[in-house]
Amino acid sequence: MSTGNNGNSDPFKIIFVLIFLSMTLGAFTHCVIEPPKSATKKNSRSTSSIENTNTNTNVPTPTVTPMPTVPPAPTTPIGNPGQDFFNSTVLPNFQNNCMVCHAALAANPPLPGPLEIYNYNEMRQKLLNGSNATDNELIRKMQGILGHAGGNRCPGGTTDTVCQVVVDWYAQEQGPTAPTPTPPPVNVNGVTGMISVVSSTGKATGYTGDTFVPTKTLGVSFYLDGPSGAGILLNNSPIQANLAGFNGGIAGAHAFTFYVPILYRDGVSHTLYVYADDNGIETELQGSPYTFTAYTSTIEGFNYYNGTVKPLLDNRCSGCHAFSYDQNFSSLLTPSPANGGSMTNNEMINMPSGSNMGRNHPGGNLCGSKDNSPCVEIQMWWDLEFN
Ligand code: HEC
Ligand code: HEC
Repeated sequence: MSTGNNGNSDPFKIIFVLIFLSMTLGAFTHCVIEPPKSATKKNSRSTSSIENTNTNTNVPTPTVTPMPTVPPAPTTPIGNPGQDFFNSTVLPNFQNNCMVCHAALAANPPLPGPLEIYNYNEMRQKLLNGSNATDNELIRKMQGILGHAGGNRCPGGTTDTVCQVVVDWYAQEQGPTAPTPTPPPVNVNGVTGMISVVSSTGKATGYTGDTFVPTKTLGVSFYLDGPSGAGILLNNSPIQANLAGFNGGIAGAHAFTFYVPILYRDGVSHTLYVYADDNGIETELQGSPYTFTAYTSTIEGFNYYNGTVKPLLDNRCSGCHAFSYDQNFSSLLTPSPANGGSMTNNEMINMPSGSNMGRNHPGGNLCGSKDNSPCVEIQMWWDLEFN
């Protein structure tokens, strides 16, 4: 029966395909005259960042700034071009291209991939763990250069759209704490490396190695709030840069991670000075000093989460989520208080309220109002962690 149908429909198919092709070609010749769309974003961004510098009431208004003749524009969320670009461009591309696998278990993905790929901070950390826009942990993962269960998502190279938007995103990450996209300098002994990121939970990530002797493992030393000799030495002896991970192109395992001691994850801005240690000879890494503000959980917050928040979430959210404290804590810190986060404005409370930074919650608005459960408990939890 099905063969008969196919036979009958063949002429129709051919006619249909011809009509479709002529329509498509027609569309192509017409769309050439459409104007480009995305060229005029920069001005609004720089305006909002100038406004932001004036919101700190302790700092006197710079005298060079002419007094505005009109009242200042209404307060906008803290400008972060990198995060804006991630939300507006990278995220939709990832959702279109990666959701087959990177989806909640309830959606029965064929090969479940982690949902972290939709998290700005997690992906930014991978993006900045590298030497430039086309050579970093995220791009390598997407191309399957670093083992990726999802394979190479950009078989045509980094100009394939979903990789190209990541390359473009790199250019947006030019904040005060972002490393510059030039390759790190190599000292006379061949030593090079980079401190790529210090997360808001105090995890420092980078790599260092000897380009002349790639098999050699170097040490790394960390000083807080001052360079070697002046700052507080954070490690008793240099840690070893011998982890698998991004290695800046030096063959072998040269990555390192280091947690800033809890004492200094105190919600206050610090600088981290990072040095390769080659038998006592220190070489400062690119990206050092790195300015960061890190947070740690409080006993009260941890207990409240486990005793009150977690049972509520297990009840309401477990159809789609398998939450852990660390994962939820990182959402609670997105953005961190230093970056404009508050009790009622962070990913942990915004998502179950319907959306966060233009990203809709597939689970919908489950709180109704942020003063309803479980959002009101999430506010209480935030308060116990950060106030
Ligand atoms: C065919 C399924 C599949 C597709 C499609 C897929 N992935 Fe994955 N991805 C996985 C799986 C499974 C993992 C976890 C195992 C691993 O690390 O390889 C993963 C891991 C990752 C990780 C590491 C996450 C982490 O937190 O360590 C990144 C980054 C990633 N994928 C990015 C992407 C992006 C971006 C796309 C879309 C352009 C994509 N993937 C498409 C299956 C897939
Ligand atoms: C119907 C399924 C569903 C339910 C129910 C649901 N969620 Fe989600 N939620 C999702 C999906 C899917 C994502 C990932 C969306 C994305 O990455 O764009 C998500 C993302 C989130 C995120 C962002 C962090 C992350 O893991 O990506 C938070 C926070 C969150 N949900 C909180 C909650 C809370 C709290 C509840 C329960 C009160 C809840 N969700 C219930 C589907 C659901």
